[in-house]
Amino acid sequence: MKIMLVGTGGREHALAWKMAQSPLLAELVLAPGNDAMEKLASNNLAISRQPETSADDVEALVELAKSCKPDLVVIGPENALAGGLADKLNDLGINVFGPNAAAARLESSKAFTKDFCQRHNIPAARSKTVSSENEANDYLETLSAPYVLKADGLAAGKGVVITEDLIEAKASAKQMLDGQFGEASSKLVIEEFLTGEEASLFVLCDGKTAVPMVGAQDHKRAFDGDTGPNTGGMGCYSPAPILDDEMTDKVMQQIVKPTLAGMVEQGTPFSGVLYAGLMIDNNQPKLIEYNVRFGDPECQVLMLRLQSDLIPALMACATEGLATMEPLSWDQRSAACVVMAANGYPRTVSKGSIITGIEQASISPAVKVFHAGTKISVNGEVSANGGRVLNIAASGEDLSQAVANCYAGVEQVNWSQGFYRRDIGWRALGK
Ligand code: AMP
Ligand code: GLY
Repeated sequence: MKIMLVGTGGREHALAWKMAQSPLLAELVLAPGNDAMEKLASNNLAISRQPETSADDVEALVELAKSCKPDLVVIGPENALAGGLADKLNDLGINVFGPNAAAARLESSKAFTKDFCQRHNIPAARSKTVSSENEANDYLETLSAPYVLKADGLAAGKGVVITEDLIEAKASAKQMLDGQFGEASSKLVIEEFLTGEEASLFVLCDGKTAVPMVGAQDHKRAFDGDTGPNTGGMGCYSPAPILDDEMTDKVMQQIVKPTLAGMVEQGTPFSGVLYAGLMIDNNQPKLIEYNVRFGDPECQVLMLRLQSDLIPALMACATEGLATMEPLSWDQRSAACVVMAANGYPRTVSKGSIITGIEQASISPAVKVFHAGTKISVNGEVSANGGRVLNIAASGEDLSQAVANCYAGVEQVNWSQGFYRRDIGWRALGK
């Protein structure tokens, strides 16, 4: 089978690593992939790479798919989904893992999702969508601190402001409405602050059937103790103790299934992986947000735990095959991931600093290094080439062992220009 994989980061490296283990895969086309992913090639697996094709460039990706004629296109990141890549590939008769643009609105428009949740009685924070400063100020006055403001559209994880201060909330609203995130912040969702514990559930969907995978917990803030700016995620683990079978069932019944049914009802069925970001308080889950793709770095720990072949599962999502798919089998042990990021992330970073010790990091079979933003020179020298740069992931008998295995790997890496959190798993481990 030939698969085209869209994306560049640690999530896509983990997907490629897992797919490369499948006897079904003969050829992988990376669009654009990264240098480390190319090294998954073997006698049984041919890998080609299109380093000039941006993962956001829908037209270029469609042209590539037309010329390489894959059996399946797997889309990692959200921008191309929101931009209609799946629609165009479907029109060409190509199987796609990932939703079309209308279904991707569950991530690409927070206003759409809030309105949808209200109409379908899906538990979520009380909110209002506003498009003028006056409306924003009037609604903020009715709330109490902390205030939560969200840009309606995609803003690379930076479009959420949470502040205790009403004056600051009003100033942020003005700044966003004045175009801080361009068109993405021409509307804002202002919502009630939720308390509780966050967790994420990943659900495979084929438009008709939904199959829950497992849960994970992310660490969104840059620094230890959940301080510093929000990032794309600095580390995570799976399973999430709070998402036990009973809670997973509740999330499926109260949140995911009504969502999927509502999407069918309005003629935009969802296929791909639905990432439900949840806040759980007093045993009651509420939806914080949906993403329409795997989480990064959550995908890395999911792939470590998944024992089944990934390819039939992705293909089933693309071809309405989930109802007859063999149940997925999961390693019941824990997996964790520590993200190593360039100094300055999530703000401006400099590229090109040299990293050594990566091979030593993965010397134990429990540890797996996924590359998120690196460059590898012809002589094998690895340098930083992005904000989030390396993902050190590991399994273990329990969470504490998985985390210890990750940090044993991290210790081997020499990189003076990077940083990482030293407390991945602290909430669950502290209990
Ligand atoms: P989002 O991009 O919507 O996931 O928001 C980023 C992060 O902000 C979430 O992971 C939460 O930690 C936090 N957050 C978002 N909405 C709320 C809310 N209504 N109440 C409390 N925290 C929130
Ligand atoms: N780690 C959070 C995300 O992928 O959105």
